[in-house]
Amino acid sequence: MADQENRDIAVVILAAGQGSRMLSDLPKVLHKVGAVPMVSHALAAARSLNPARTIVVAGHGAEAVTKAVAKLDAEAQIALQTEQLGTGHAVAQALPLLEGFDGRVIVLYGDTPFISEDTLAALAGHDADVIVLGFEAADPGRYGRLVTDAEGNLLRIVEFKDADDATRAIRLCNSGVMAADAALLRQFVGQLGNDNASGEYYLTDVPGLARDAGHRAAVVTCDEAETLGVNSRTELAKAETIFQTRRRAEALADGITLTAPDTVFFALDTRIGRDAIIGPNVVFGPGVTIESEAEVLAFCHLEGCHVSSGATVGPFARLRPGAELGGDVHVGNFVEIKNSVLDEGVKVGHLTYLGDAHVGERTNIGAGTVTCNYDGVMKHRTEIGRDAFIGSDTMLVAPVSIGDGALTGSGSVITQDVPAEALALGRARQVVKPGLAARLFQALREAKAKKG
Ligand code: UD1
Ligand code: CA
Repeated sequence: MADQENRDIAVVILAAGQGSRMLSDLPKVLHKVGAVPMVSHALAAARSLNPARTIVVAGHGAEAVTKAVAKLDAEAQIALQTEQLGTGHAVAQALPLLEGFDGRVIVLYGDTPFISEDTLAALAGHDADVIVLGFEAADPGRYGRLVTDAEGNLLRIVEFKDADDATRAIRLCNSGVMAADAALLRQFVGQLGNDNASGEYYLTDVPGLARDAGHRAAVVTCDEAETLGVNSRTELAKAETIFQTRRRAEALADGITLTAPDTVFFALDTRIGRDAIIGPNVVFGPGVTIESEAEVLAFCHLEGCHVSSGATVGPFARLRPGAELGGDVHVGNFVEIKNSVLDEGVKVGHLTYLGDAHVGERTNIGAGTVTCNYDGVMKHRTEIGRDAFIGSDTMLVAPVSIGDGALTGSGSVITQDVPAEALALGRARQVVKPGLAARLFQALREAKAKKG
């Protein structure tokens, strides 16, 4: 059942800042958390609201950010902020793309990956005119402070640099996430000045201005863990730890066995079915789905692949993008599979590379088999039928096809198609020289004795 589109929400993701503390040529929001660019987390949170529009404000590294966002979310639009004059100025750049929209706008940061869907839903559904997401900080540091009245209404936000000592003593801090009706945003973002300690146009001045004009401003609070922003490599590493810790706990709660949870690494979009078993030291890159009752043994690396129910993978296997394993497939140690479909019951136990191939049901692939799929210029396909038997150490020089029930002899180099039920041998005929080994060793020993 398709979700009904919520026409009343738009999301603006601020991602123009330099992130100078990352000391990086890569724009900050493209650094990865959970195997995907950080901005993917904000985009995923946005999608949970089923928004009518999603706008990413790009500036530093805009070209790279634009390209990445286009790949991550076809619906998202880009607003350019060529000079970073502050968060208020950043939102102003998104306003032209909000023309004709009069619902609620939610502003997120591209470098703040953990705002939960529940928190966003609370902001989206709140009845005040402007709502700020706040948190009680263990160490309020340099966060903006939320000044509230006795009823908890928000009076204004004061940036740390502009705050006096009494205001700095407030522990309720601004996460940076804000929700406001589009019309209100248009009106008050237009009124922002930059007469402050940073000389920036602060988005955080909007609630105070709105309140002074008779609108209602409110605070929704969340756990501090949700508001973690990434400004340095240390915080990036911390974010990764937080992400993995959560995903491990979620996997266990979903009925998945993790033999050694602390050693399993998930991607943002990893999907695993109930009763799957994941061994120690397994790493999931983006785009992996594992069906229920599949087993991934120790030390496997999986990316862009699908593992069906009852299949076993590893230990020490690598599944690359486009690997699709059917039900009860067995992939054993030191096997690499790329862009290949293995139908139900296929066995590929040891030391094998399958690339750009299709393998039919129940076929057995012997140890050391290689699909030679690349000729140095182009990739070619290998087609293997069902119930076939590929002898150990077969080189399948693609393009090539092996028919149903066919057999290749061990050590064969297969360059021509093999019809169904045929035996193909592509190797030198064996020669046996009686006694020659003994005579050879004797001669070598004598030569060694002479040398001293
Ligand atoms: C901001 C808030 C502060 C809050 C803190 C939470 C303001 C004025 N202050 O401060 O109250 O406690 O976040 O982390 O909003 N950005 C742009 N364009 C710009 C400036 C910023 O896109 O011109 C983006 C940045 O890339 C970043 C986000 O906005 O993702 C926040 O900017 P940042 O400079 O980190 O704001 P803080 O000073 O941390
Ligand atoms: Ca920041």
